[in-house]
Amino acid sequence: MAEKTILRALAGETLPTPPIWMMRQAGRYLPEYKATRAQAGDFLSLCYNPDLAAEVTLQPIRRFGFDAAILFADILLVPQALGADLWFVTGEGPRLSTITARDQVDALRSTDAIHDTLNPVYETVRILARELPSETTLIGFAGAPWTVATYMIAGRGTPDQGPAHALKDEDRETFEALLARITDATIEYLSAQIEAGAEVVKLFDSWAGSLSGEDFRNYALEPAKQIIAALKARHPNVPIIAFPRGAKEAYIGFANETNADCVALDQFTDADWAAEHVQKDGCVQGNLSPEHMVTGGQALIDEVRRIKAAFSGGPHIFNLGHGITPDADPDNVALMIETLRR
Ligand code: CP3
Repeated sequence: MAEKTILRALAGETLPTPPIWMMRQAGRYLPEYKATRAQAGDFLSLCYNPDLAAEVTLQPIRRFGFDAAILFADILLVPQALGADLWFVTGEGPRLSTITARDQVDALRSTDAIHDTLNPVYETVRILARELPSETTLIGFAGAPWTVATYMIAGRGTPDQGPAHALKDEDRETFEALLARITDATIEYLSAQIEAGAEVVKLFDSWAGSLSGEDFRNYALEPAKQIIAALKARHPNVPIIAFPRGAKEAYIGFANETNADCVALDQFTDADWAAEHVQKDGCVQGNLSPEHMVTGGQALIDEVRRIKAAFSGGPHIFNLGHGITPDADPDNVALMIETLRR
C-alpha cells in the first residue's frame, strides 16, 4: 500500500485534505533560489549541477512542507541533449538553434546519446531520492513532444506557436519526423529518471491548447499515449500525470485514452465542470490561478476553498493551473497551504 498522500491520490483514493505541490515551486519568487542560482552562475549551470539542483528542489519543501518535490531541470534540456544549441537570455527566455528542414532533423543526435548530456539530471534525482523527507513524493518530468517541438522549430517561445504550425502545415513529414525523435528521447529520459528514483513523472504539454481537432489528437493525445504506454511497459507501478494545458473540452476522456493516472487542469478550466466530466475518470490536479500568489487576501482564501470543495468527491492533488510567477509573494504560498489544510 502506498503511504505517501500524492501516491494515494494517484491510486484513486479520495482524501479529506488533498495533497499539494506547486508548478515552478523552486523559482525566482524565492530569495534562496536566486542566491543558489547566482552561486551556480546561470540557469543552465544550475540545471546541470546535481548538488545545487537538488538544493533548489529541496528549498520549497523546507520552507512550505509541500507533499511533493519536483525535480529541478527544464523541458529544453532534451533538445539540447539531441544536439540543439540552447541558451537563456535574461529577462526574455530561452533561445535555441532552429529546425526547419528534414536534414536538420536527421542530423540530431541518436536517442542513446542523450544520456551523455542528461546524466547530471539523473544524479540530481538520486540525491533527492536519498535526501527528501520520507513523506514527500519525488516527481520527475519532461516536456511533451508538441511543446518541445514548438521551441525547437521557432528557436524561442512564441505567443501562437506560429512557426511550428507552419512547419506542420507545409512540411508534415519533417514535422512528424521531429515529433517522433522527441517522443523516443522523452521515453528514454523519463525512464532513466524513474530508474534513478523518480516516483511519479509528469508530461508538460504547455502549448497543447493551440492544437485543435485532428491535430490535437495526432500531436498531443497520440504522443502522450505512446510515451505512457512505453513507460507503463517498463515501470508499471509509476503513476504518470499528463498536462495538456488549454485542452478545454478535450480534457474529457484524455486520461482514459492516454492511460494517464491523472490529468493536470489549467486555471481556465471550470472546477465544477471538470469534477463532473474529467474527475469521473480518476485523479485530477489543479487548478488555482497563479495570479492569487501575487494578489493574496480573501480572494485567495475563497478560491482555495471553492476548488477544494469542487473536487472533494474524488481523487485530487491541489496545485496551481500553471507555474508561479517571479512577482509572487511567498507569504501567499503559505496562506494557500494553510487554507487548504485548515
Ligand atoms: O516546477 C519546478 O519548480 C521544476 C522546474 C521547472 C522549470 N521549468 C524551471 C525553470 C519545470 C517543471 C519547468 C518546465 C518548463 N520549462 C515548461 C513547462 C511548464 C510551463 O511553465 O509551461 C516550459 C514551457 C519551459 C521552458 C522555459 N524554461 C521557459 C519558456 C523559460 C523562460 C520563462 C521563465 O519563466 O523565465 C524557462 C526558464 C525556467 N525554467 C526558469 C525556471 C525556474 C526561470 C529561469 C531563471 O531562473 O532565470
